[in-house]
Amino acid sequence: MTRVPVIAANWKMQLTEGEAIMLAESIREDWDSGDSLEVILFPSFLHIPIVRDILKGKPVGLGGQNLSFAEKGAFTGEIGAFQLVDSGCSHVLIGHSERRHYFHEDYETVNRKVQAAIAANLHVMLCIGESTDERKTGVTEMVIIDQLESAFAGINQDRLANMYIAYEPIWAIGTGHTPEPEEAAHVHQIVRKTITRLYSEQIAKSIRILYGGSVEPRNIAAFMSQEDVDGVLVGGASLNSKKFLQCLTKWRT
Ligand code: PGA
Repeated sequence: MTRVPVIAANWKMQLTEGEAIMLAESIREDWDSGDSLEVILFPSFLHIPIVRDILKGKPVGLGGQNLSFAEKGAFTGEIGAFQLVDSGCSHVLIGHSERRHYFHEDYETVNRKVQAAIAANLHVMLCIGESTDERKTGVTEMVIIDQLESAFAGINQDRLANMYIAYEPIWAIGTGHTPEPEEAAHVHQIVRKTITRLYSEQIAKSIRILYGGSVEPRNIAAFMSQEDVDGVLVGGASLNSKKFLQCLTKWRT
């Protein structure tokens, strides 16, 4: 099965409206979207409609960086799946390590968010990854499997279509440190094996597994050339239009 490569950009809480506009405009003007590459942007909630309008007609997916586990109602400060869809989002990031860490999102919350997103037909990009200590103590595989099993608990296999998994070792996020591409690919194989065990080989083969953590133009191709690495989730380097456009062209060189 051929999986279309994907490059996703996580803008986090980094940009002003003007900066988000400039970035979206440069992607519109300078990226040749004729390539067989899927591009997904995760702007701040506030900038989603603006980015949507700027990139109208371009094959760029748009997603929220988070969502509420609740469907709708009196949940002050939250954003529901239906609101993301209504604003033009096709995707949503769930379980990013910053949300797990700073906002105490536990396995159950992540699972509820996956359920909420799937119910609204959003494509989920589930983030998983081990901490420095977990890596040091050699429990990476166990952590990855736990995160997958808990996130997908109760999720029917027919709802897994177009699901993405982003493997982001926490120690590599925003640090400039990365695993060797082969090391990341090894974890991706564990992810695919786990999905095969939980669902089927066919589903495991259809799911795209991205690597994330200090991806830049200089290392993107090394990751994306690995057999089991279907794409990358870029944080810091996606905030700079020159660097991000280089990522969009250099991924296969
Ligand atoms: P980074 O962030 O590329 O800045 O390391 C990646 C992420 O957190 O998704």
